[in-house]
Amino acid sequence: MTKTTAAITAVGGYVPQFVLTNQMLEGMVETNDEWITSRTGIKERRVLKPEEGEGTSYMAIKAAREVLEKRGIDASELDLIIVATATPDSLVASTAAFVASEIGATNAFGYDLLAACSSFLFGMSTAASYIVSGTYRKVLLIGADKMSSIINYKDRTTCIIFGDGAGAVLFEPNTEGLGLQDEYLRADGKGRQFLGMEGGGSLMPATEESVRNNKHFIFQDGKTVFKFAVSNMADVAARILERNHLKGSDVAWLVPHQANKRIIDATAKRMGLEGEKVMMNIQKYGNTTSATLPLLLHDYESRLKKGDKLVFAAFGGGFTWGSAYLTWAYD
Ligand code: UT7
Repeated sequence: MTKTTAAITAVGGYVPQFVLTNQMLEGMVETNDEWITSRTGIKERRVLKPEEGEGTSYMAIKAAREVLEKRGIDASELDLIIVATATPDSLVASTAAFVASEIGATNAFGYDLLAACSSFLFGMSTAASYIVSGTYRKVLLIGADKMSSIINYKDRTTCIIFGDGAGAVLFEPNTEGLGLQDEYLRADGKGRQFLGMEGGGSLMPATEESVRNNKHFIFQDGKTVFKFAVSNMADVAARILERNHLKGSDVAWLVPHQANKRIIDATAKRMGLEGEKVMMNIQKYGNTTSATLPLLLHDYESRLKKGDKLVFAAFGGGFTWGSAYLTWAYD
């Protein structure tokens, strides 16, 4: 019997229209274009304004519709929709359920998956497992975040980094052995003191005091997170190469979470990869959390070839991190 693997068969993406440049940030907080560019690689990011649309689902729906259109299928053929996100439309009711009904996925169930910047990577593992087990045949994985909803635009340590966006991929069975090949996923809950949002959850429900003290905005101890991110992202990517007997020269593309260009460069160096094999769009979108990986695939899709070996790597709040090896399934 032929072995079934889980392959990506279509990609969609969406970023909001409003562009927040480094120059604009110079007028909002004590910062400058030179600092932001040299420390992070970011020049601009997108922000979803109420005039355009509201909530993470607005962008997720756009990305989902592009996937359906490109693959030429009807939403009713979907079995499952997973929305990887750190900023769901609201707590309790899942954003995925809303996305499903809005796009007409009448035969699908859906749920959200939360693991900060590793949400999409962990979602790839989840989506692929359903396919390989034979339980479902069409799983839509969306990575979407409206980071502007939890950013304090008076806090220069976070507002220069994050942006809004969404990307989506369809996972389907493949009989040529293409698709997800291997993964190494990790978590360390002690990291939550260095990156996260204290208010709004069950530990600290909203009160007048929590709002006054800015507890409903994301915080990060950048230096500490940077240290963990650099070593862990490079470690897991190197481990994935090693246990799949791959050299840097075998890899067509590194698909790295877009948190900081310096972290990406360090990971690529450790893997022995040249710069032109590293997907990068941090300069125009900043860190879109769950959307970085699918937005990279969306931007680079026309350059991907069937059989290309892709190594994904991510690091995020929690802490959560990991790497995955996937072969591309179409030209
Ligand atoms: O996606 C989830 C995972 N997140 C990450 O991977 C983010 C990891 N961290 C980082 O990317 C970096 O730590 C940052 C980009 C957040 C900060 O870069 P850094 O090189 O670690 O800078 P720093 O925090 O050590 O700050 C250096 C200096 C400080 O001044 P002093 O103390 O040296 O006088 C800061 O006060 O830069 C100052 N600074 C700024 N200056 C201008 C901090 N933020 C800014 C700013 N503009 N926005």
